[in-house]
Amino acid sequence: MSAIKDLIKEIDNLKPIPAVVNQIMDAVEDSKSSMTDIAEIILYDPVITANILKMCNSAYYALPRRVDSVHDAVTMMGLNQVVDMVLMKSGASNLIKGQEGYGLHEGELWKHAVSSALIARDLAEKKGSEHKQMIFTAALLKDIGKVILDRFVGDSFTKIDDLVKKKGFSFKEAEKKVIGIDHAELGGLVAEMWDFSPKMISMIKNHHLNDEAARDDLETQILYVADNVCMMMGIGGGADGLAYRFHRDVLKRLGISPLDLQEIIASFGSEMKRVEELLKVI
Ligand SMILES: [Fe+2]
Repeated sequence: MSAIKDLIKEIDNLKPIPAVVNQIMDAVEDSKSSMTDIAEIILYDPVITANILKMCNSAYYALPRRVDSVHDAVTMMGLNQVVDMVLMKSGASNLIKGQEGYGLHEGELWKHAVSSALIARDLAEKKGSEHKQMIFTAALLKDIGKVILDRFVGDSFTKIDDLVKKKGFSFKEAEKKVIGIDHAELGGLVAEMWDFSPKMISMIKNHHLNDEAARDDLETQILYVADNVCMMMGIGGGADGLAYRFHRDVLKRLGISPLDLQEIIASFGSEMKRVEELLKVI
């Protein structure tokens, strides 16, 4: 039990999400906010503005001309893409480090986070979700619990691995059994401490669909499928890779056939070179 208390204390060692990001997320979810309101929040932050311009002008977006202002960026790319950039930049500081306990080298968890966020955003678009930004953010930050749990997983790796390989536990179940908490649950606590909305907290906590009720939530389903697509493609799989339960019924509920899934994988696979370009400038 005291180990869990120690773990929770470690949440404070994460680099906090800048207040401006919370403001942007609230504004995006609030139907009364206009595009100008949101662009203005961004404009007040010079560091974020500079990063947006750098990302806009990267090879990933291949724009026909240089982007020189936030206004320019919003006009040329749309507000959603610009907000995505803000979120990516703010997630990088915590997720870019290697997580050796999970067998992830520097940049691998980050690549997984960005890839699953891009896939999730695309699925959210296709499935007509009203919470596209929230899905993007949740996909980006869903494994934040791993950053804290990494050392503990490393110390108990043999025990965890034994439960997975010999007893049929999923990796997350083994984390819970050996350490007392799993990375999804811990991620939910981080989201709580960062004042995220209740829906976002629930999505991060349930990104492996541990809670039966979460399986009926469209946004959590999308998050789950995006995570699995990345795992299937071997993006940031690490030691836990495919050691999770696959809830086939979720695909059915989302109306995704095995062929659709193959198509999603193939089309993201061909995007990978561009994604690498994006990762270089975040
Ligand atoms: Fe996870």
